[in-house]
Amino acid sequence: MQIAMIQDQIIPIKELEPIHLDRGIFFGDGVYEVLRSYNGRIFALEEHLQRFTNSLSAIAINGVDINTIRSRILKSFDAADISNARIYFHITRGSELRKHLSSADLEPNFFLTITELEDDIQIKKKGILVSTHPDWRWKRCDIKSLNLLANVLARRDAALKGCDEAILVDEAGFITEAASSAFFSISEQTLQTSPLTANILPSITRQFVLKAGRNIGLETIEKSITPQQVCSADELFIASTTQDISPVIKFDGKLIGDGRPGKYTKLLTQEYLSFTA
Ligand code: PDD
Repeated sequence: MQIAMIQDQIIPIKELEPIHLDRGIFFGDGVYEVLRSYNGRIFALEEHLQRFTNSLSAIAINGVDINTIRSRILKSFDAADISNARIYFHITRGSELRKHLSSADLEPNFFLTITELEDDIQIKKKGILVSTHPDWRWKRCDIKSLNLLANVLARRDAALKGCDEAILVDEAGFITEAASSAFFSISEQTLQTSPLTANILPSITRQFVLKAGRNIGLETIEKSITPQQVCSADELFIASTTQDISPVIKFDGKLIGDGRPGKYTKLLTQEYLSFTA
């Protein structure tokens, strides 16, 4: 008899719930999105749906109707009735017995959660500490894939060092991005972040932060930077959907500026939040 074991329970293979055979679990064979609402309104829904469409197409999960996905998001957001919500969803290629090459007729699996997002005011006030870690990820980080082991390991390393986020450094010694956020520096009124290549996620927040930077009169450049260079920057911050802009006050143990969130980071945050209203 073909069997499975879940914890200490033996189950005939035929009786397994499809979720146990999800290719997302076996292979990370799926893509995801995280978006959020501010005061009852979902921010940048269309931008996230577009990136999700790109991710699906990049890994050839075909036949997903984005209008259906949009409706499911809106329906569950209404049902959850959470004003500041984190909306997570993913699609995997489907469920079947483990084999690398999937069957052609698999039905993709959809999964979504909506949970409360508590904005940490202390982070904005005090800033966060970051540490560097080698970027061990694959060569298509522009796809928002479920394969996040390298990100998770980098984040664990940062936590062991007492830091809040890991800054990933590639083999040439340049910062790509952070483990779960985009990374920015400000020096001499110039806002700098890595260019959009296959090595980083095309962060939605990054897009709005660059716009906010231009609005407040900063020069913006999309060019890679090294850990050595950022240590002498005026200001540093990370940015993501769930945390918007979080000032960085220590980088690999070195104090940035006077060790407090910088004035342009504060201005940028105000401008960024004005887009979300
Ligand atoms: N992470 N870079 C990486 C590697 C990320 O995982 C994320 C987001 C970002 C920022 O992307 P955006 O601005 O679109 O949120 C950059 C999400 C929040 C997560 O995995 O939970």
